[in-house]
Amino acid sequence: MPTAMLKQEAISAIRASYQLLRTEKNLSPLNDRVTHSLTHLVRTLTRCQSPELAKFLLDAPELAVEREHLPILCGIAECEMEKFWARHLIGRPVCDLAEFWYFPEYTELCQAELDLFKTRTFERISFLGAGALPLTAFLLAHHCPQSEIICVDFDEEACALAEKLGRKIGLKDQVKVQRMDALQYVPAQNELVICASLLQGREQVYQNLQAQDCALIVRDSEGPYQYLYKAAELPSVTSFREIAKTQMDARRINTSRYFERATEWMDSARAA
Ligand SMILES: C[S@@+](CC[C@H](N)C(=O)[O-])C[C@H]1O[C@@H](n2cnc3c(N)ncnc32)[C@H](O)[C@@H]1O
Repeated sequence: MPTAMLKQEAISAIRASYQLLRTEKNLSPLNDRVTHSLTHLVRTLTRCQSPELAKFLLDAPELAVEREHLPILCGIAECEMEKFWARHLIGRPVCDLAEFWYFPEYTELCQAELDLFKTRTFERISFLGAGALPLTAFLLAHHCPQSEIICVDFDEEACALAEKLGRKIGLKDQVKVQRMDALQYVPAQNELVICASLLQGREQVYQNLQAQDCALIVRDSEGPYQYLYKAAELPSVTSFREIAKTQMDARRINTSRYFERATEWMDSARAA
């Protein structure tokens, strides 16, 4: 499709989703209008990955309101979608996580994140803002059987659903759910902390973590996907050093950045 047509299609999809989501009361998958609109939006943005198109969409003054507010509405819809799917999967006689619409994206994302820290083994991996359907935690449990996985979320219902789902798929001993604000979370020694893309209060979380012996993965959003998720605030360079990041890829919505504590990195650089 010529770029001009794709530009127009992307503008229409962004505007239409924003107009719909801001007026609908129910943003869960039970509302077909919301599901169709968001599916179309994600598919359209996936086709807009060229640097020229991405720049055009991010700089478009006529989309400033959508750029500011659409990711917030998408975040609400995502929380609802995760709860819907967690309930659905818990209710199935046999629970197959691959039924979830975005299972392929999460599988790709998790694989790309595993590559970021492949030279290290963590005793514990925590996922802050894990949600009702903590797929990342379940996938990590499979790939890192030696690690304990902790899901942190302050939403009571999300925690109850995540716990039930973990039990249903036989991971209750490896994947633990802690209901608390991530701001209060204290990692163990040699822990990897993953900050979900919808984590609130991230700057405070980074500040709390800078005194701890942990590594960090921050889920970010780049290019046109910033209409779905806001770009993440990053930790200060004096406390954490970015070691590696995943590349933008049409198979994954988020990019991820891997950090180690700045002092730890300097010590290993000196020793090398
Ligand atoms: C949709 S969900 C799951 C994460 C999503 N799959 C992702 O990768 O971002 C986001 C969850 O983060 C939780 N959350 C956001 N900020 C939080 C915080 N400061 N402490 C604990 N949970 C938080 C919300 O309750 C919600 O359940």
